[in-house]
Amino acid sequence: MTVELPESKAGGTLPAEFCTRPGPNPYPSYAAAREQSPVHPIDYPNPAEAYVVTDYETVVQAFTDPRLSKSVDNAPGFFRDALRESSPVLIKNMLTSDPPKHTRLRKLLGNAFVPRRLKLLRPRVQEITDDLIDALPETGVVDLYNDFALPLPMRVICEFLGVPPEDRDVLHDWGMVLSNAPYADEEGNRRLKEASEGIESYLLAHMSARRADPREDLTSVVLRSADEEGGGYTDDEIVSTLVLLVIAGHKTTSNLIGNGTQALLRHPEQFRLLLDRPELVTTAIEEFLRYEGPVYRAPQRFASEDMDIAGHPVGRNSVVHLMLNSANRDPAVFEDPDRLDITRKPNRHLSFGYSVHFCPGAPLSRVEGDVAFTTLLRRLPGLRLAVPDDQVPWRYDNSASRGVERLPITYDRRLPR
Ligand code: HEM
Repeated sequence: MTVELPESKAGGTLPAEFCTRPGPNPYPSYAAAREQSPVHPIDYPNPAEAYVVTDYETVVQAFTDPRLSKSVDNAPGFFRDALRESSPVLIKNMLTSDPPKHTRLRKLLGNAFVPRRLKLLRPRVQEITDDLIDALPETGVVDLYNDFALPLPMRVICEFLGVPPEDRDVLHDWGMVLSNAPYADEEGNRRLKEASEGIESYLLAHMSARRADPREDLTSVVLRSADEEGGGYTDDEIVSTLVLLVIAGHKTTSNLIGNGTQALLRHPEQFRLLLDRPELVTTAIEEFLRYEGPVYRAPQRFASEDMDIAGHPVGRNSVVHLMLNSANRDPAVFEDPDRLDITRKPNRHLSFGYSVHFCPGAPLSRVEGDVAFTTLLRRLPGLRLAVPDDQVPWRYDNSASRGVERLPITYDRRLPR
């Protein structure tokens, strides 16, 4: 659904859907909003003042403005209460804190995504990818999102954390519930509470096991960092960090694979170029991240004081949404921004955020994307959409994730690994 912009003066109020339901092609309405003004008030469904920021330059400035806080202490009351009551495990990590607390919590991941560790993990990413492709039929129609893109990153992060295969499904289910928080209804909040308690007690037990018997997995690395940084970290903070790893790296990376494949199959000349020159996969991944970003808006910021953004007054406790996928199509920064160009360089997209909260898992998702795209193209000759591209449904949720909901594809045959 494309959101029609109201006929309004610069910076006029936008309908809530502009932010909550971007639809299959939000880009014309993003362009219209950007042309009107970098900042718009938005008709928020909850009792709060809220704004969206649409252009590249103002989004970058907002990312670096210390008055825009990630801490729920600065959130409007309804938001704070909903999260504190239903899921304390979601709000004790770096994603929901500001420096200096953020700096301290982020140190827990100081040794997590270093090149040496990713090099060790890569052969396992390849095996997991090949196992998933082996499980596809020899021919026929397949939902590449649900049968490949969705399970791949969850298996990888479970492997990386040292979670045994038999526990992956339950972790997957808890992660899906947590990543949609906060919920507006009682049933949603009941499931959120259940998932929070389930994942918390599971990870506490997993941490105890690794404290008694440290290994080379990510859980042991985080525990070791906690000791090396002089201790002082509570188990709550460590559990919340592990929970964040489970949810932050899941649908985001699934969307990179799902959205990227869909974009490629809609552009046959770009698809042919990647088949002919597989080494372009590195720039192709950056272009998929820009062109159909997996996280369409950054997790919300809250104004910690009365302030202005690009000249627009923003009251204390306002919710501020930085529209990444709009900034990624800003013609002031990207030449011909609506064109998919897998050779695009430089490509300073904002899909992993910017500044202190910049995604620490970016190197891992790039490895997963590299292995996934390279292997799909090699093992499934004749890969193509099985439905017209305007019939591919899109999904968006509270976590600001935007991706295809199903991706029906077919291929001529499935080649061995
Ligand atoms: C294509 C895949 C991914 C995308 C598009 C993505 C996107 C993002 C974005 C936009 C942020 C910044 C949030 C903000 O400024 O508020 C972020 C933060 C974060 N991401 Fe990712 N991410 C991806 C994969 C991963 C993976 C694989 C992991 C780890 C397993 C991960 C872990 C994190 C963590 C821990 C943070 C919080 C950083 C902080 O607050 O300092 N992400 N990610």
